[in-house]
Amino acid sequence: MIQNSVTRAVVIGTGHYLPERVVPNSAFADTLDTSDEWIVSRSGIERRHFAAKDERTSDLAAQAARAALDNAGVGADTLDAIIVATSTPDYTFPSVATMVQAGIGADKAYAFDVQAVCAGFIYALANANALIVSGQARRVMVIGAETFSRIMDWTDRSTCVLFGDGAGALILDAQPGTGAPGDRGILSTDLNADGRHRDLLYVDGGVSSTGTAGYLRMQGNQVFRHAVEKLAQTAETALEKAGLGARDVDWIVPHQANIRIIQGTAKKLGLPMEQVIVTVQDHGNTSAASIPLALSVGVESGKLKQGDVVVTEAIGGGLAWGAVVLRW
Ligand code: UT7
Repeated sequence: MIQNSVTRAVVIGTGHYLPERVVPNSAFADTLDTSDEWIVSRSGIERRHFAAKDERTSDLAAQAARAALDNAGVGADTLDAIIVATSTPDYTFPSVATMVQAGIGADKAYAFDVQAVCAGFIYALANANALIVSGQARRVMVIGAETFSRIMDWTDRSTCVLFGDGAGALILDAQPGTGAPGDRGILSTDLNADGRHRDLLYVDGGVSSTGTAGYLRMQGNQVFRHAVEKLAQTAETALEKAGLGARDVDWIVPHQANIRIIQGTAKKLGLPMEQVIVTVQDHGNTSAASIPLALSVGVESGKLKQGDVVVTEAIGGGLAWGAVVLRW
C-alpha cells in the first residue's frame, strides 16, 4: 500500500481585490461606435473595474494577498515564496512580486514575476507546484494581478471594451499525499506555447523595441478560433495526466475572456454551464487575474468546497495556454 509517498500543493486560502470604479458598457457608447447590446452578445461582458489613477498593479496584488492570508488564517511571515503573474507591472523592474513582499511584510519569502499574459496564472500555479513538490518551498502565495486599462487604445472599439483591472491570490501549502487522484491539491499541470501566432495578440511597445509601454492589439476572431479547441485539448490532457475524466470534474474555472469561449469549451468537455464558474459579466477580461478572481468568488459564493475537483484553463498572447487540475 502506498501512503504519504508524495508532496501535494494544497490550496489553504484565497482572496481577491477589485478597484472601486465600476464602468458599465454604456460608458463606451459616448465616444465609440459600439453598444451595450453588441458587447453583451459578443462577449458576455456587462461591466468591468478600472484602477484609480494612483492605484498600481502591486497595490491590487497586495490587497488580494492580504485577503488570501486572512482567509487562510496564516501570517505573511510564513510564506516561502511569492509568484505574481502579470503583463502590466508597475515598472520594468523590480518585479511586482518583490513590491508585494515588502508591502505585506513577507520577510522570508523569495519573490518573482511570471509573464504568460492571460495564461499567466496557470503558468504561475504550475511553477509554484514545481517548487513545492521539489521541496524548494513549503508555502507559496500565487497572485494574478493586472491593470490592462493602462494598455488600452481607447479609440479601438474591438479591444478597449473587453478588458478590466483586478487581482486574485491563493496560498498553496505542502501537504502529504498518496499519489492517487483522491489527494487534495494540484493533481496535474499542462503548459503549452506556440510563438508563431504572436501577431494575433500583442502589445505594440516595449523596453527594447519602442521604449514605450504600447497598446494592446488583437485579432479577436482569430484568437477565438484557437481558443475553444486549445482550451478543451489542454483540459483533457491535464485530466488524463491526473488520472481523471470529465465525469470526475465538479467545477471548470476558466479564464474569463468571452462567455462564448467559456460555453464552447464546456460543451467540448461535455460539462453543463451549471458546473462552470463565470465572472466575465462583472469583471471583463482581467488577463492573468481572471482565474484567481473567479476561484476566490467561487469560494465566497459557497460553490467551491473542499474535495471538489477543479479544472482551470487559459489561453492568451504568445500564444500561451494551459490547464491545471486540482482537488480543492
Ligand atoms: O484573453 C486573451 C484571449 N482573448 C480572447 O480570448 C478574445 C477572443 N476573441 C473574442 O472574444 C471575440 O473575437 C471578440 C469579442 C473580440 C469579437 O467577437 P467576434 O464575434 O469575433 O467579432 P469580430 O471580431 O468578427 O467582429 C464582428 C464585427 C466587425 O464588423 P464587420 O467587420 O463585420 O463590419 C467589427 O468591426 O463587429 C465589429 N466590432 C464591434 N462592433 C460594435 C468590433 N468591436 C465592436 C464593438 N462594438 N465594440
